[in-house]
Amino acid sequence: METIHTVEWMKQVAREARAQERILGLVPTMGALHEGHLSLIREAKKDCSPTVVSIFVNPKQFSPSEDFQKYPRRVERDHGLLEDLGVDYLFAPTAEEMYPHGFRTAVLVEGLSELLEGRSRPGHFRGVTTVVLKLFEIVQPRFAYFGRKDAQQVRIIQQMTSDLELDTQIVVCPIVREPDGLALSSRNAYLNGDDRRSATALYRGLDAVRHEIGAGERDAIRLLTALRRVIEAEPKVALDYAEIVDAETLEPVVSLRRTCLVLLAAFVGGVRLIDNALVEQAGDSFKVTL
Ligand code: PAJ
Repeated sequence: METIHTVEWMKQVAREARAQERILGLVPTMGALHEGHLSLIREAKKDCSPTVVSIFVNPKQFSPSEDFQKYPRRVERDHGLLEDLGVDYLFAPTAEEMYPHGFRTAVLVEGLSELLEGRSRPGHFRGVTTVVLKLFEIVQPRFAYFGRKDAQQVRIIQQMTSDLELDTQIVVCPIVREPDGLALSSRNAYLNGDDRRSATALYRGLDAVRHEIGAGERDAIRLLTALRRVIEAEPKVALDYAEIVDAETLEPVVSLRRTCLVLLAAFVGGVRLIDNALVEQAGDSFKVTL
């Protein structure tokens, strides 16, 4: 694996790969890699050669009160994991390299960026789309891989890709979970023993929704009541939001239809976690994927 620290060199390498008509795959990450990230990389390896994994803890997507400084950085360990997976290039630019003095441009997907996570984290998605478009421009990958763990992020990046006619295809990968259901996240590293156990409430809440849907419930308010009941039984977990939204518009629905997402965010101790379930109509019934 070759590690690349500069934009210029990354562009050069990517340009050569494209000139040879090779299929470039990009997996953008912020590092502290876990099985969730690795599943994206394995998927990329199936379709693409060469594969590029970027590790960049993007300051623009953290607000001043958030955990940018203490966000886990595991450079050595990440490097070893990527070597083992047979990744071709690790792109690990510095902040100065990505945002040199005088950088002034932002990319904003209007509307979708202000809902849900955007309401709790103003400016977050503006930072995400700015860095993702820049990464797409530098690498110009044929395929880019994202996890459904961050369902709103995926929806926003798909919208950006379509609005700007980008030639990168977005591949969405399933959520990787711990055996007890907790979705893998770099932020899980902040959870101590007790909080770690309480954190399964997010999954259990979504599972309760799945159960209710299986029993025929279609009403969003009643489904969310089932979810809240699970969360409220867990004193260490404070719900930030829970909504059932249309998967395309991200607007709340009154009752299930076509494709919906059940999205939630909660604080466990001081740690903010998100999770979601995908609800797809299949004839008269609905299929729920956690
Ligand atoms: P990060 O949180 O490091 O996540 C990188 C990618 O891994 C994202 O596409 C995310 O959805 C995916 N991922 C994380 N946990 C997952 C899990 N449990 N199962 C499946 N996929 C999972 O998301 C970001 O970084 C940043 O916003 C980024 C897109 C890199 C832009 O800075």
